[in-house]
Amino acid sequence: MGRLYNRNVLLGVTGGIAAYKSAQLIRDLREAGATVRVVMTHGATEFITPLTLQALSGQPVHLELLDAEAEAGMGHIELARWADLVLVAPATADFLSRLAQGRADDLLTTLCLATPAPLLVAPAMNQGMWRDAATGANIELLASRGVHITGPSEGSQACGDVGPGRLQEPAEIVAAAQGLFAAGVLDGLRVTVTAGPTREALDPVRYISNHSSGKMGFAIARAAAEAGALTTLISGPVALETPESVNRIEVTSAVEMYDTALAQMGQCDIFVGCAAVADYRPAQSQLQKIKKGQETMQLELVRNPDIIAAVAAHSQRPFTVGFAAETQDVLEYARNKMQDKQLDMIVANDVARDDAGFNSDQNAATLLWADGCLEVPLTTKGELARQLVDTIAGRWRQGKGKHKGKVA
Ligand code: PMT
Repeated sequence: MGRLYNRNVLLGVTGGIAAYKSAQLIRDLREAGATVRVVMTHGATEFITPLTLQALSGQPVHLELLDAEAEAGMGHIELARWADLVLVAPATADFLSRLAQGRADDLLTTLCLATPAPLLVAPAMNQGMWRDAATGANIELLASRGVHITGPSEGSQACGDVGPGRLQEPAEIVAAAQGLFAAGVLDGLRVTVTAGPTREALDPVRYISNHSSGKMGFAIARAAAEAGALTTLISGPVALETPESVNRIEVTSAVEMYDTALAQMGQCDIFVGCAAVADYRPAQSQLQKIKKGQETMQLELVRNPDIIAAVAAHSQRPFTVGFAAETQDVLEYARNKMQDKQLDMIVANDVARDDAGFNSDQNAATLLWADGCLEVPLTTKGELARQLVDTIAGRWRQGKGKHKGKVA
């Protein structure tokens, strides 16, 4: 997770024994959130099959420069433009030499010339070839042109030699690739978001709920993941797809959401409570469907536990952000809720507007904290989520390490 999230990585595989490691490399790059497309040289196909790399990348593997069929799909110039990063691993001595000469005699070298993306190469070859002056000169020339080089490692080689020339481990190559992108504002932090409504059962077929669609909470989870956070989304029943790289836990009732949220304590740095949690539940949920009979019916309701207040009161308290869905005196009620529930920040959400709030694709809100505020005029929920994440990151950095176990 983190800096490779949502990045397009074009992985070039050239013909060396270390090509087998490209299988794990693809998995690690995807695990880090990248979309991976593979270009192989003919030599590489002698060591690992295109089918293997296609299965692992989930994308067609590109082999030929002059292939009418491939050009009708994603042509070589489109591929060069698509990439946020061109990574060649393993990069053989021959490939490095051709790259240094500026050759364009196969698909991979042509792409390397055409792409505006940064180029990272991970050399792998016999130790004698690596130590040779020609290879050294090629590496120097490439580095002087801005090509990034990672490795090689030292150790025993497939040919029986010992020395420099081993391909770095996939995790090291992924770390080098991540290093080429700016850090996300929540890099390395663990964020938990609640979203959607809860359902409080009256009987097996009926429940009390509200109009929350989950869109706002899901947008926050997506923005947190994009900002590099390890993100958990605790969601009530909604019809939304899980954002990429987000761990989703589904719950139904407020009590389930409470238990799940509290189980996150100790493994959560920032908690955002966006869910529209039912304040009350039926005192008893009937085991069988309630039969229609009498003209009127009375329901006894009991208070649900307050999830966000319990999170904020926890001994391993994360930085805690709540929402306040209000229809009047929005800022005043929101400030009161922030104080009553001992939150670090609250998002005051006017849900009386027709164009925002529940179930809409848009929202407008005021972010409030102890000594400041930020008004976000009507915008998409995605944009509001990004602004919220940026603001949380700023507040987190200011109070880093101070908030754990303390109230704001
Ligand atoms: O899901 P969408 O259709 O996109 O709509 C988004 C939204 C309108 C639901 C969202 O923007 C929003 O305002 N969420 C908060 C809804 C709410 O329940 O607000 P509240 O003012 O009743 O609660 C205040 C805070 O306490 C909230 O953070 C809520 O999650 C939390 N709470 C409330 C009750 C309870 N038992 N436990 C809680 O943790």
